[in-house]
Amino acid sequence: MSYVEFQGISKQFGETLAVEDLDISIAQGEFFSLLGPSGCGKSTTLRMLAGFVTPTTGQIHVHGRDITRLPPEARDIGIVFQNYAIFPHMTVYDNIAFGLVERNMTKRDIRRKVEAALEQVGMSGYERRFERELSGGQKQRVALARVLVIEPEILLLDEPLSALDKKMREEMKFWIKEIQRSVGITTIYVTHDQSEALTMSDRIAVMEGGRVLQVGTPVEIYEYPASRFVAEFIGESNLLSGRVQEVTDGRCEIDLGPAAVPAQAPSGAPLSEGSEVALLIRPEMIRLHKVSEDEAPMLEGRIAEEVYQGSLRRYQVETAGQKLTVEVANRPDLPLRSAGEAVALYWNTESGVVVR
Ligand SMILES: Nc1ncnc2c1ncn2[C@@H]1O[C@H](COP(=O)(O)OP(=O)(O)OP(=O)(O)O)[C@@H](O)[C@H]1O
Ligand SMILES: [Mg+2]
Repeated sequence: MSYVEFQGISKQFGETLAVEDLDISIAQGEFFSLLGPSGCGKSTTLRMLAGFVTPTTGQIHVHGRDITRLPPEARDIGIVFQNYAIFPHMTVYDNIAFGLVERNMTKRDIRRKVEAALEQVGMSGYERRFERELSGGQKQRVALARVLVIEPEILLLDEPLSALDKKMREEMKFWIKEIQRSVGITTIYVTHDQSEALTMSDRIAVMEGGRVLQVGTPVEIYEYPASRFVAEFIGESNLLSGRVQEVTDGRCEIDLGPAAVPAQAPSGAPLSEGSEVALLIRPEMIRLHKVSEDEAPMLEGRIAEEVYQGSLRRYQVETAGQKLTVEVANRPDLPLRSAGEAVALYWNTESGVVVR
């Protein structure tokens, strides 16, 4: 059952087509992310749902009701932006109480709700502070409490973590997900950070140039990207250019030039023999061994470069006329490789994904 529904939504700003023919269905209680590079239309999509931007074409329904032309205040939606939207001249308490005061609630009810909201975001005891006395992460907690306290139907978050440092971002992304799960609120999260989207979302829409390229769970998006753009945007990827040599029930053979390797045939339209494709193999899926006679590897190559990254070692391997990135966990039982060394590359057939 779809709860938020975008149907044929486009937005034209003068010459710029910011969003083009967007169809998205979001279920009640879902954590849904819009992920894509800068300028791809994420914020415009969110702003159309919030009512700050009027679509050029299409309709938006929430719970079966057409809200396309309703003003923002007539929609039951809370929004948190990248830049802490809290009032600098008000205390934390008054910031959170603001939306409740506007709703003419009694002082007692307001106190009860503000205290509950502060507790929910882990900020009890900070009532008397002002914005200048809070860290970036604390400001975002207050901004979220301010929105949650009015109990909207839908929560919109537009890059809420991008002004924070890496460590705080890591902490906050788990925390936001936890709060969302406990409140059960339908949430739409905008980000250009693939790790945030993968960690928090039930489903992700990957956008580029105003269009949705793929919608799926984090696993579907990471493991079965539908296009080269998605494969390269999400995580690190090795894309080997090749040609389809043979297709037999669910499996195919990809000719990479010096060697042909087996792969899983993609879902959707059948592959045609002879067509140009890319074979996606994630760096962590490749195992490096000594070259031996015993077991035929997928490919053979030579280490071009080794980079130490703490928890892992990253190798550039020259093979099949291209360079592959291989990530190996930095563990004492896995041998070190050095530049110039000949290696055999192995991966499971299912780890090679054909991308058209
Ligand atoms: N009010 C506006 N007037 C004119 N053009 C706009 C307006 N708002 C957005 N745009 C344009 O529409 C396109 C999409 O913008 P949008 O803000 O939705 O991108 P975004 O995906 O949120 O990017 P970012 O990650 O940088 O925030 C951009 O080319 C932008 O310049
Ligand atoms: Mg934006």
